[in-house]
Amino acid sequence: MRTIVIGCDNAAVSLKNELIAFMKSKGVKVEDAGCSGSEDSTYYPYIAERVCQRIIDSGYEKHGVLICGTGLGMAISANKFKGIRAGVCHDPYSAERLKLSNNGNVLCMGERVIGVELAKKILWEWLNLEFVDSPSTPKVEAINEIEEKNHICAAR
Ligand code: RB5
Repeated sequence: MRTIVIGCDNAAVSLKNELIAFMKSKGVKVEDAGCSGSEDSTYYPYIAERVCQRIIDSGYEKHGVLICGTGLGMAISANKFKGIRAGVCHDPYSAERLKLSNNGNVLCMGERVIGVELAKKILWEWLNLEFVDSPSTPKVEAINEIEEKNHICAAR
């Protein structure tokens, strides 16, 4: 299974720690990109930047999990990076579609929205799927085409 880079802001430290422990218990290799704890007030876009940069530096081999209060700010920030397709999922069906319809490489969730057990279920659904060639492929390619047109840069 892929290495997962996980990050959160200080609204989601508790859920991040639960998800790290969960992934490790399942044998998933996890990299923690911060924040370091509830006293760390690093703004969520900078945490998203750290995680996305590690994904880009790995040649998109690594995937990411970003959590904040709602997941929304993390998804908005992550989607500013080239080759990143991030979505907020608070149910397992969306998690399945994020991978199979959108080739989503970053899963976002909100600690203030869902409970720990549901978050684990969503994460597990998404982690165990891989995007395969399907009628969704040209739609994902259209996202890449729009990215190119709008000059989104991969490098810092
Ligand atoms: C708290 O800063 C909150 O705004 C943040 O965690 C997130 O929910 C933003 O989308």
